[in-house]
Amino acid sequence: MQVTIEHLTKRFGETIAVNDLSVTLGDGRLVALLGPSGCGKTTILNMLSGILPATEGRILFDGRDVTALPPEKRNVGLVFQNYALYPHMTALENICFPLEIKKMPKKQRLERAAQLAQLVRISELLYRKPSELSGGQQQRVAIARALAKEPQLLLLDEPLSNLDAKLRVEMREEILRIQRASKVTTVFVTHDQEEASSIADQVVLLKQGVLQQQDTARKLYDEPDNFFVADFLGAPPINKLCGTIEGGKFRFRDSGAAYGLPLRREVADGTAAVLAVRAESVVVPAAGQTLPCRVVERYTIGKDELSILDVEGQRMRGYISGDYPIQKGDALDISFRRKGVFLFDAETGERLS
Ligand SMILES: Nc1ncnc2c1ncn2[C@@H]1O[C@H](COP(=O)(O)OP(=O)(O)O)[C@@H](O)[C@H]1O
Ligand SMILES: [Mg+2]
Repeated sequence: MQVTIEHLTKRFGETIAVNDLSVTLGDGRLVALLGPSGCGKTTILNMLSGILPATEGRILFDGRDVTALPPEKRNVGLVFQNYALYPHMTALENICFPLEIKKMPKKQRLERAAQLAQLVRISELLYRKPSELSGGQQQRVAIARALAKEPQLLLLDEPLSNLDAKLRVEMREEILRIQRASKVTTVFVTHDQEEASSIADQVVLLKQGVLQQQDTARKLYDEPDNFFVADFLGAPPINKLCGTIEGGKFRFRDSGAAYGLPLRREVADGTAAVLAVRAESVVVPAAGQTLPCRVVERYTIGKDELSILDVEGQRMRGYISGDYPIQKGDALDISFRRKGVFLFDAETGERLS
């Protein structure tokens, strides 16, 4: 099912939790709603499920306006951060409960529960109570329960945030597998850019209730629409070198050294700007426009060699191959690739190059 959100706004008194949001969630896609805590993600899910009324705007399911429909008429499955399983029921009873409410005959209920248990891989745990299950297992039960009613839309609100780091990676791959097998249009809420990037077909990035960009994770990373997007995606975070635009070029704050990039529009002299550079966009040996720098520190992170560099009095991180013989304290010239290097207006965040 395709979900269309049109000019959706939610106000709580003075707070605008969601501000004029328009996005389309593709049929059968896994969509990540991404953004820092408080940016309106849960509020959007609650409006999609019908728990919260919208202040303004419309929600369409396959073109049908559901904005005024109560939750029970929307056929939406919800999984919360804390799983919210019924503690006195077994896994099996939890999964069957929504079907009992729907008055499905017992035999069918059990068949459906067995299928779902297989899908989420908990077949041997069906007679356990939630307290006898690990966090990851409880999450699987919660997903099976949400899928029991064969929802047209599955909403997952930070489903992995209660799990430890290793299990999180495993469970996110499981969610992707389950989503691909069930083919249900799924909205996955997270504040973790890596989590969103690793599984989502489509990422919707929000800041204070306002849509920043909607595209594949790759596109957000490679072609950010503004500074917030460039800064939110990627680890280590993108380098931020401060300066101004003078004569159509970026000039470093203290040294005044110039770095030229093609500007998207004419920019007034003196405009405060950020030259944003991904760590993997540092090139050594330098070619083309070069900048002198000093190696402040050098780390090995897994397979990579990450160097902390001092460039025109500012610190930045760059991946420099271990094959290249440099040491802490060395002076060398670097250059930047064109890819992964952007200029932003420091005040507005507008992309200038
Ligand atoms: N019931 C409510 N009453 C008042 N303010 C709320 C309510 N629910 C959420 N908010 C506010 O709306 C904003 C978005 O909240 P939320 O959707 O929970 O963000 P997220 O899930 O992205 O962390 C926050 O500023 C939050 O304080
Ligand atoms: Mg939330």
